[in-house]
Amino acid sequence: MKEFKLSNGLVFPAVGYGTYLATDGKKTEAIAQAIEVGYRYFDTASFYKNEEEVGEALKDSGISRKDIQICSKLWRTEMGYENALKACKESLERLGTDYLDLYLIHWPKQDGAKDEWKSVLKDTWKAMEELYKDGKVRAIGLSNFLPHHIDAIWDEADVKPMVDQLELHVGYMQHKAVEYARSKGMLIQAWSPLGRRRILEEPVVLDMADKYKKTPAQFLLGYLVQQDIMVIPKASSKERLKENISIEGFEISDEDIKYLGCLPQAGWSGEHPDLV
Ligand SMILES: NC(=O)c1ccc[n+]([C@@H]2O[C@H](COP(=O)([O-])OP(=O)(O)OC[C@H]3O[C@@H](n4cnc5c(N)ncnc54)[C@H](OP(=O)(O)O)[C@@H]3O)[C@@H](O)[C@H]2O)c1
Repeated sequence: MKEFKLSNGLVFPAVGYGTYLATDGKKTEAIAQAIEVGYRYFDTASFYKNEEEVGEALKDSGISRKDIQICSKLWRTEMGYENALKACKESLERLGTDYLDLYLIHWPKQDGAKDEWKSVLKDTWKAMEELYKDGKVRAIGLSNFLPHHIDAIWDEADVKPMVDQLELHVGYMQHKAVEYARSKGMLIQAWSPLGRRRILEEPVVLDMADKYKKTPAQFLLGYLVQQDIMVIPKASSKERLKENISIEGFEISDEDIKYLGCLPQAGWSGEHPDLV
């Protein structure tokens, strides 16, 4: 599988498993299946309330911790220096591990209405840097950060953010945000790479999938990975899990990549980092 290297040298696979809602009513089953079909990178967050299940499934798999990568995120209510340190400690405890491979600030603002978001963010980043220097996390980054949010911490940052995880899929490619984060050396990760199913049946997606002889989900994931964007799709059945990780062996033409990048907006979650 294609891999991506972070600015600090850490390497992630192109496809990871997104665990949001993956444990609902299923406990560890979907995660265990994901491990079985070959996923080795897991995206969770304190907000998902499933870190215990993720940790349990990973432990039960018997796979060595060093062969698995885990990302977690601190929630908006966990921002600030002390809160962030505490949040990471609690995530580690729930996951039953002594380090994370990646730790992200889930959203840039504690509360969209508050003016002091920049100082809260700077304090939070200080904690992230400390966690990184202490070896509690192997990489640190951002999620849902647009250029003006990145600017709020960039100059003062001792350790620069290594990742920006954004909502990205056909119909919502946020080109400016991607371009800016990349210009700062960050790896881009796509959340909701399938638009949480909202774009799976768009006629253009069905046509393209047909053209490249892939399923719509494979086409959508391949489209992002080909543009060096790591994807973390969530799926619940073994068939879909396998389908989503089998995205090699096709190349989308430059013309189609450009065409798809200029479609009208489709499938957006409606969650804007300045307004949520
Ligand atoms: N940083 C953030 O703010 C943020 C926000 C949202 C999500 N995330 C992360 O990103 C991950 C992925 O995003 P997401 O869960 O929102 O959406 P997604 O991965 O785009 O879509 C998941 C949906 O697509 C369905 N699906 C998966 N594979 C399929 C296939 N091959 N064919 C047909 N349907 C398929 C799933 O159904 P079944 O489950 O029924 O199979 C599920 O309903 C999350 O799990 C989470 O880890 C991060």
